[in-house]
Amino acid sequence: MSEYQIVVVVGSLRKDSINRKLAGALVKLGPPEFSFKQVEIGDLPLYNEDNDANPSAPVRRLKGEITAASGLLFVTPEYNRSIPGVLKNALDNASRPYGQNAWAGKPAGVLGASPGTIGTAMAQQHLRNVLVYLNVPTLCQPEAFIQIRDGFFDEAGNIPNENTRKFLQGWMDRYVAWVKQHAA
Ligand SMILES: Cc1cc2nc3c(=O)[nH]c(=O)nc-3n(C[C@H](O)[C@H](O)[C@H](O)COP(=O)(O)O)c2cc1C
Repeated sequence: MSEYQIVVVVGSLRKDSINRKLAGALVKLGPPEFSFKQVEIGDLPLYNEDNDANPSAPVRRLKGEITAASGLLFVTPEYNRSIPGVLKNALDNASRPYGQNAWAGKPAGVLGASPGTIGTAMAQQHLRNVLVYLNVPTLCQPEAFIQIRDGFFDEAGNIPNENTRKFLQGWMDRYVAWVKQHAA
């Protein structure tokens, strides 16, 4: 088992999601002592405080995965200049009941991809706002606002552009240092 296990949360349920592809390409740039697991958020119930005393199996599973992890990696689309509801729902579900916030203290990184020119900048800022409240120390720099154009990914899901790959490698290196710093 790897020394550092990272929970990857993709804010899209879409099969051909560009954010899922970005997450897949990014995690290949991690060092051998890191392993990355994309967690399911599509089967979580809509958050309802009435269920706090008896959370459903998907909620218990997600909270267990987060608790066991050394860090978090969020890769999200922007929906209507904010984060998708499915991502907010996951954040809410794993943050409760009050006093049992599974996210707290886990070092995190945030990225996002869009065909649009601002590359999810507003969604990421909204996500950072929520993460502050959830007590999640989040890597500040480098920011990663990724605009996806034709040819960004090759058929195998890799990123052929060398400059983009270098940028993402630099991002990953900083993220790895961030996680290690918080684990120490
Ligand atoms: C409901 C909805 C709202 C969207 N709003 C934005 C937006 O605010 N900014 C943006 O750059 N793209 C927006 N888009 C376009 C998405 O960036 C695009 O669909 C992207 O592929 C979604 O990410 P995914 O491929 O990972 O699912 C929106 C798409 C949907 C379905």
